[in-house]
Amino acid sequence: MLRTEGLNKSFGSLTVTRDVNLTLDRGQRHALIGPNGAGKTTLFNLLTGELKPDRGKVFFGSRDITRDTPDARARAGIARSFQRNNLFDGLTVRENLLTAITLSSGIGHVFWRALGKYSRLYDRAESLAQLVGVTDQLDAPVKSLSYGLERQLEIGLALALDPVVLLLDEPTAGMSPDETANMTTMLNGLPDDLTLLIIEHDMDVLFDIANQVTVLDYGTVLFQGTPDEVRQSEDVRGRYFGAAS
Ligand SMILES: Nc1ncnc2c1ncn2[C@@H]1O[C@H](COP(=O)(O)OP(=O)(O)O)[C@@H](O)[C@H]1O
Ligand SMILES: [Mg+2]
Repeated sequence: MLRTEGLNKSFGSLTVTRDVNLTLDRGQRHALIGPNGAGKTTLFNLLTGELKPDRGKVFFGSRDITRDTPDARARAGIARSFQRNNLFDGLTVRENLLTAITLSSGIGHVFWRALGKYSRLYDRAESLAQLVGVTDQLDAPVKSLSYGLERQLEIGLALALDPVVLLLDEPTAGMSPDETANMTTMLNGLPDDLTLLIIEHDMDVLFDIANQVTVLDYGTVLFQGTPDEVRQSEDVRGRYFGAAS
């Protein structure tokens, strides 16, 4: 589905990604973990095209997308969740979803205003809202949302692209325990055929969501396996769980 082959990336003399081979299968819930500075976000940026590798390749299905732009990759089905400031601030939750749907379909982001309330776009916005748990807030301004619901809505905007793979960089960062629980439930309710790659520090969330785990350490893949295998790995326990929170 999405695969890297011998990826290398350096910033000056600092090698941040070393010969990384990562394979995501369709529908996999794949967690990427490792201490701060391990190169997790850099690997995301290499997958989405924000960064180009010095060496190595990225494949999407059988296609070599190493040189493709972030836009082309997004259109092909690789999405990442928008950051907080990518929500359209003056709009309601429904309007944010409608805008993201129309942007992704290329028909112009204000076009939905001219459409009747009963159009398919509105149905789509409502089903996305349901998927990410913001149905009760559809007509609320995004500014009124709690932090947790804002982050859930961002995932709704990313899903408006109808992605095959969704990359989430620390989706529960800064959340209260309740917000984290809601996000976890929401992520577990996403369609089975959607492939997820999640950078996650919270081990409870990780073990609740993931069925495959890759551990990065100084840019190198230290371990790959199921959550149970990660739990049982002395190497991972000693070098990661023992050291970092
Ligand atoms: N654009 C950049 N320029 C220089 N150094 C960078 C850049 N991006 C990341 N780094 C460095 O690369 C290392 C890995 O960063 P990052 O991928 O953000 O790690 P993680 O997400 O695992 O915490 C860090 O030492 C960081 O300072
Ligand atoms: Mg990071």
